[in-house]
Amino acid sequence: MILITGGAGYLGSHACVSLDAAGYNTIILDNLSNSSFDSIENISSLCKNNKPIFVEGDIRSSRDLNMIFKKYPISAVMHFAGLKSVANSQSEKTLYYGVNVGGTVNLAHEMGCAGIHRLVFSSSATVYGDRSIPPYTENHPLNPVNTYGHTKLAVEKLLNDLSLDKSPWRIGILRYFNPVGAHESGLLGDNPVGPPNNLFPHITQSLIGDAKSINVFGGDYKTPDGTGIRDYIHVLDLIDAHILVLDYLMGDSEDHLTLNLGTGKGNSVLQVIEMFKKVTGKDVPYTIMERRPGDIDASWASA
Ligand code: NAD
Ligand code: UFG
Repeated sequence: MILITGGAGYLGSHACVSLDAAGYNTIILDNLSNSSFDSIENISSLCKNNKPIFVEGDIRSSRDLNMIFKKYPISAVMHFAGLKSVANSQSEKTLYYGVNVGGTVNLAHEMGCAGIHRLVFSSSATVYGDRSIPPYTENHPLNPVNTYGHTKLAVEKLLNDLSLDKSPWRIGILRYFNPVGAHESGLLGDNPVGPPNNLFPHITQSLIGDAKSINVFGGDYKTPDGTGIRDYIHVLDLIDAHILVLDYLMGDSEDHLTLNLGTGKGNSVLQVIEMFKKVTGKDVPYTIMERRPGDIDASWASA
């Protein structure tokens, strides 16, 4: 059985459904701070083999983790739970360190005590920061430029440390570029509590009439059209990679993996807007604004 922390959220919900299709049983631990119980119901309706068990709880609670590890035969953990807004991380630093770093320290500690050593961790391309020129290989220098990125790098350091020497740990650190899209059923998707921070949900909300105009953050970046370039990867491709990594960690290999998850191709904000217009046949009005603090010019993976 695989424990999915943050399994009610955007990426974790897709992971639950894909893991079920791949023959794994799952249990979700989520405090629903950025998701809802509807998501659990939708995941359950899409699981054809076994519906996940749901525990409403917190990765910072040893009690919650202990209960799960005692009660269920967990063989590995996919750790999606965390806070992900770059902007909020700048104003709520202790909260971000508490959840992202403190929560992961607690999870790793309780896993170790329970003799569970296989872990897939949601890291981010944000760890590369602004010192590198894309495409980023996994060996590029790491220099995050915001608190969110610092918390991801701090966790990577912990997990690398755990993997040293003759360690029982088998860890996959996955550095996501920009996951987008949704399950074809339309039942799962990027559906945060409160207004979204990311580009894609802003555009889709604009298209269904919930938001008026897109704010394009910065028109003077050193890119061909002046807007930021990112590597947008479909959520189901991203999750397929998780299952391959999990299968690998469940095998005999003693390798510790740190991998980029991107497509290897970058697109600018204006290119994305143009593509939405072309595909939907609808207008996507936008306004070029000031740059958003913590953003960089361009980021795409050497995949
Ligand atoms: P999300 O907010 O949709 O999902 C995270 C889930 O974790 C939510 O359901 C939330 O309720 C839960 N959660 C938060 N704090 C918790 C806690 N203390 N205890 C238990 N549950 C908690 O985010 P997502 O887009 O699915 O991202 C999943 C992971 O991937 C995060 O760690 C994020 O930093 C990382 N990541 C996401 C992106 C992206 O663009 N979506 C990019 C890079 C990395
Ligand atoms: N953007 C806009 N308007 C918006 C939202 C975004 O112009 O309303 C621009 C941004 O300035 C950037 C691009 O669209 O150039 C993508 O921005 P997102 O907020 O969608 O994504 P980020 O690249 O800032 O960050 C995302 C996730 C992080 C993750 C990172 C990994 O939010 O959690 O990708 O590369 F770490």
